[in-house]
Amino acid sequence: MKRNYELNRLWIALLVAVFLLPLSVSAMEMDDCLGCHGYADEVGEELFIDADKFTPTVHAEMGCVTCHESVTDEHPYDGEAVSSADCLDCHEELGNQYIATAHAENAVCSDCHNPHQVYGIEAVSGPEMNKQCSQCHEDADVMASHAEWLPQASLHIAKLPCITCHTSAESYEIILNITQKQEKEEGLTGYRFSSYADLKKYSGEKEVQRVIDIDADNHISLAELRTFNRNPAYSDLHLSGTMVPNEVSHDLSTLDNRYDCTFCHASGPGSMQTSFLSFPTEGGTYRRMTVDEGAMLDTLYGTPNFYMTGSTRSAALNIIGLIIICAGFIMPIGHGTLRFLTRKNRQH
Ligand code: HEC
Ligand code: HEC
Ligand code: HEC
Ligand code: HEC
Ligand code: HEC
Ligand code: HEC
Ligand code: HEC
Repeated sequence: MKRNYELNRLWIALLVAVFLLPLSVSAMEMDDCLGCHGYADEVGEELFIDADKFTPTVHAEMGCVTCHESVTDEHPYDGEAVSSADCLDCHEELGNQYIATAHAENAVCSDCHNPHQVYGIEAVSGPEMNKQCSQCHEDADVMASHAEWLPQASLHIAKLPCITCHTSAESYEIILNITQKQEKEEGLTGYRFSSYADLKKYSGEKEVQRVIDIDADNHISLAELRTFNRNPAYSDLHLSGTMVPNEVSHDLSTLDNRYDCTFCHASGPGSMQTSFLSFPTEGGTYRRMTVDEGAMLDTLYGTPNFYMTGSTRSAALNIIGLIIICAGFIMPIGHGTLRFLTRKNRQH
């Protein structure tokens, strides 16, 4: 009897120790950590965490210590290396999918993702996604190798996220971004995505999405799109369309059907019906808003100047063209792109 009692006490003491251990090891909170790591001049560029970018992410909700368990109150003066969690501990599905690919030998999670700046696919623009890839895959090389089979390779690569062709999502969504003419510097021409600050100049006191979402219902209607396109105050702004996988996969494969031009230039109308307008947020990410079905077609009729502006290679018009083809509409539009694309389809 006595022995049992002693044993129980031992167990209780052990349990208490185990539960208190994490507390005693570090009572430091996120703010304490950021007190040093939030300042580059304090800890150096390598160890700097941009608090503005980290704080709004889902990872911030967990706090620093969840992923850096071994950190002590004496850190950094204890001379101990701090542990970092493994992405796979929490992202089993995508993680295991990626680990199984040949690409896992070429890049680890943190080569593409900064653990302190993680965003869902809806919050990242195409060009930013492609920056993850171009760290290792030089633009010029990619352009050259793709041009061997892909006409207008530079246009495709500028318009499409690499993962639209290099992951296995079966379908994609049409995303419209607001763009504007880029300053001519170092040979760069064309359009760039309008930033939050750019749009703020147009929206003034109001939220930037009010440039198009006039009634602030978080949805873009045909009427709103038409008003936007016709408003002379916005004549410098253009819509640029792209296609983004509708679900994230990490197989980084090269699927045979991505050679098949009809995957994009003539897939079923079903996959083409979801479209979104993507607005920049103050924090540098993006936020999507649904767009009325058929909106792109309406744009074509509503604004004769709209698709002529800037260049014949108007993103909107071409996307419209794609949609027209995909939806199986026959329209008497004498435009080279469309003719070319339909010719292509007829070959198939
Ligand atoms: C007093 C300033 C200070 C505070 C507070 C602080 N750190 Fe550090 N941290 C440092 C310095 C300096 C280093 C570099 C230490 C070294 O190289 O030995 C470092 C290094 C690190 C590293 C990299 C370690 C490695 O082995 O590569 C991690 C991770 C880290 N800190 C996480 C944290 C977390 C989490 C917190 C809060 C619980 C925190 N730090 C609080 C100053 C601080
Ligand atoms: C979701 C998990 C997670 C959270 C939350 C997290 N970190 Fe990290 N952190 C990591 C991982 C994983 C690495 C290792 C990255 C690598 O291998 O390159 C890392 C690396 C670091 C480093 C080393 C430098 C670097 O950027 O690679 C520092 C310093 C650091 N973290 C500090 C912090 C601080 C301070 C916080 C809270 C403000 C924090 N971390 C929150 C996962 C996290
Ligand atoms: C070759 C680059 C690359 C590597 C390596 C990589 N990812 Fe990604 N990951 C991306 C891209 C591109 C996206 C889509 C844009 C975004 O959300 O950042 C993404 C998105 C994600 C998302 C968001 C999913 C969603 O539904 O929005 C998670 C979670 C993720 N990755 C986890 C991981 C993990 C865990 C690893 C390592 C096992 C990993 N990634 C390795 C490129 C990569
Ligand atoms: C301690 C658990 C934990 C660890 C470790 C962790 N994550 Fe996460 N991460 C989460 C949770 C929870 C979410 C939100 C739900 C989800 O998307 O799965 C998330 C979301 C994400 C997202 C999407 C963000 C969004 O807003 O949708 C990305 C990208 C991501 N993590 C990448 C990584 C990478 C890369 C690593 C390793 C460097 C990592 N995570 C380590 C828990 C973790
Ligand atoms: C950290 C460096 C790194 C990053 C980042 C990276 N890759 Fe790779 N990738 C490589 C290396 C190295 C190879 C093998 C050599 C080659 O084919 O160029 C490779 C090969 C590939 C291949 C051919 C593999 C095959 O099985 O056919 C594709 C496709 C690919 N990467 C796509 C991407 C995409 C898309 C991204 C961005 C989401 C990306 N990579 C980001 C390093 C990287
Ligand atoms: C329109 C679809 C499409 C887009 C967009 C695309 N790729 Fe590819 N990519 C392919 C196809 C199909 C192949 C296989 C070509 C072959 O085997 O010759 C390929 C091959 C590759 C390869 C292996 C061969 C090589 O070039 O070394 C790499 C690496 C690669 N792509 C990276 C990228 C990166 C990085 C991006 C974004 C900047 C990108 N791709 C954009 C369809 C695409
Ligand atoms: C992953 C989707 C995708 C695939 C696969 C694809 N394209 Fe495209 N294509 C696009 C997008 C997006 C645009 C750009 C529309 C724009 O101008 O904004 C485009 C533009 C074009 C243009 C240029 C139109 C112009 O205005 O000059 C041609 C030509 C073209 N594609 C032909 C092809 C051919 C041929 C193939 C097959 C070898 C192919 N595409 C494969 C999505 C794709």
